[in-house]
Amino acid sequence: MLGNTLDLYQKTAATLDSFPIRQVLVCQHRTCTKDGAAKVLTTFQQLKIANVSVEACGCLGLCGSGPIVVVLPDNVYYWRVTQKKAQAIIATHLLGNLEIPSMMHPRLHPN
Ligand code: FES
Repeated sequence: MLGNTLDLYQKTAATLDSFPIRQVLVCQHRTCTKDGAAKVLTTFQQLKIANVSVEACGCLGLCGSGPIVVVLPDNVYYWRVTQKKAQAIIATHLLGNLEIPSMMHPRLHPN
């Protein structure tokens, strides 16, 4: 009985570990793509982070200030993201759980 419960707990824990608790969206529409969004998307996709899914998305309505990257459910919009900034987002926000105010879009994060 205890063995079955332990097995069930371990299977459930393994399932939860693989469930994405954060989603990273990288705009791949016109102006963001022109500004290097494909390389930014590749940077996020290359590093497999537990509990984080990475997806390309359409225009986020912030054209001209991209590449735009959104981290959900934190609802943080990063702007003018380069490959180097993507690495900072990975290390600080996704792995360190600390948002980076200096890289957030000023229109959506005015403070
Ligand atoms: S093209 Fe990326 S926000 Fe519009």
